[in-house]
Amino acid sequence: MKKHIAVVPGDGIGKEVTSVGKAVLEKIASKYGHTFTYEEALIGHVAIEATGDPLPHDSLEIMRNSDAVLFGAVGHPKYDNDPTAKVRPEQGLLKMRKELGLYANLRPIKLFDELLDASSIKPEILRGADILFFRELTGDVYFGKRERIDGGNTAYDTMIYSKYEVERIARKAFDSARTRSKRLMSVDKANVLESSRLWRETILEVAKDYPDVELEHQFVDAAAMLLIKDPRRFDVVVTGNLFGDILTDEASQIAGSMGMLASASIGDGTGVYEPIHGSAHDITGKGLANPMASVLSAALLLDISFGLKEESNDVINAVDAVLKAGYRTRDIANQNTPPEMILGTDDIGMKILERL
Ligand code: NAD
Ligand code: IPM
Ligand code: MN
Repeated sequence: MKKHIAVVPGDGIGKEVTSVGKAVLEKIASKYGHTFTYEEALIGHVAIEATGDPLPHDSLEIMRNSDAVLFGAVGHPKYDNDPTAKVRPEQGLLKMRKELGLYANLRPIKLFDELLDASSIKPEILRGADILFFRELTGDVYFGKRERIDGGNTAYDTMIYSKYEVERIARKAFDSARTRSKRLMSVDKANVLESSRLWRETILEVAKDYPDVELEHQFVDAAAMLLIKDPRRFDVVVTGNLFGDILTDEASQIAGSMGMLASASIGDGTGVYEPIHGSAHDITGKGLANPMASVLSAALLLDISFGLKEESNDVINAVDAVLKAGYRTRDIANQNTPPEMILGTDDIGMKILERL
């Protein structure tokens, strides 16, 4: 198979983890006789520094003209600490999602058995947890009108959804529920928000086409509580952009660490595969970043964009084997991990490549 992949590392640990994700794709190509070609593009702070624009036109074209995008992370403390900055790295990420029509963000929460004790949640509560979030990605308060008024002393953001936006993410989630345990949880705040009432109304309409799927609604506050109380109660979850952002960072603790969570952003065109974590400047340049989220994002890329299921499973199994052998990055180690088994980003990447 011949495929062209845009590699977009972005900022901070984005660069460190994406180089491991890319190495895994290269390994898979040589092992299975595929030809993958790569093209790098700038986004985020590095793009602002080089061009003044967090998503230069050229970068978007490179992504549009590729078969899939392997993305890292954006962000820089300079902007996090300056609320007045008009140009921000995150604008590049949001524009990429909008321009590529990436309305569905799939965030699998897969707990590797070996990491049962890496979480702060009790093993008996966690064992067997396996959740798939469908986070809507191109609507909501992220893209609604926002403004400062009253001479800058008042600000608002608009939480906005149209029926078609809810319907298309709902269909993806219902379709997926059919292939899993036939249960779907929709998360909203319909007891307060009008946009959530439209959300729930639309979910109920779409549900008529899926009588074989058991639908449950939860308010987002209760869902946040239940996720920690009883993670196994969750299977497929569909929710809006903001609630999905927050709940999946919370859910990363079910998988042990932010460094374990991969995602696939799909929709109208080229798919983007990205860890859910950010640029993590607290650990940038120290070799401490866990690259498994990027490696597992590469596995999602192989499966979803290229239909290479066997290759994708091979990558997941290699991660599993490295964990079974006892190797850890610092974020998934605990007090019982022997210090010599705690590896840096590139070294644990090498272990994964060796298994492949
Ligand atoms: P973050 O995800 O970057 O980091 C949160 C915590 O998790 C930090 O302690 C970090 O060290 C740890 N962590 C994250 N990924 C890790 C990994 N792979 N291995 C080990 N530890 C890991 O979130 P934040 O600190 O809230 O944000 C930092 C910057 O990243 C901000 O500028 C934010 O806007 C941006 N951000 C970008 C994305 C993205 O590009 N998709 C996602 C989230 C945050
Ligand atoms: C994510 C991030 C982004 C989001 C930020 C950086 C804009 O947190 O990908 O989860 O909120 O979607
Ligand atoms: Mn997030």
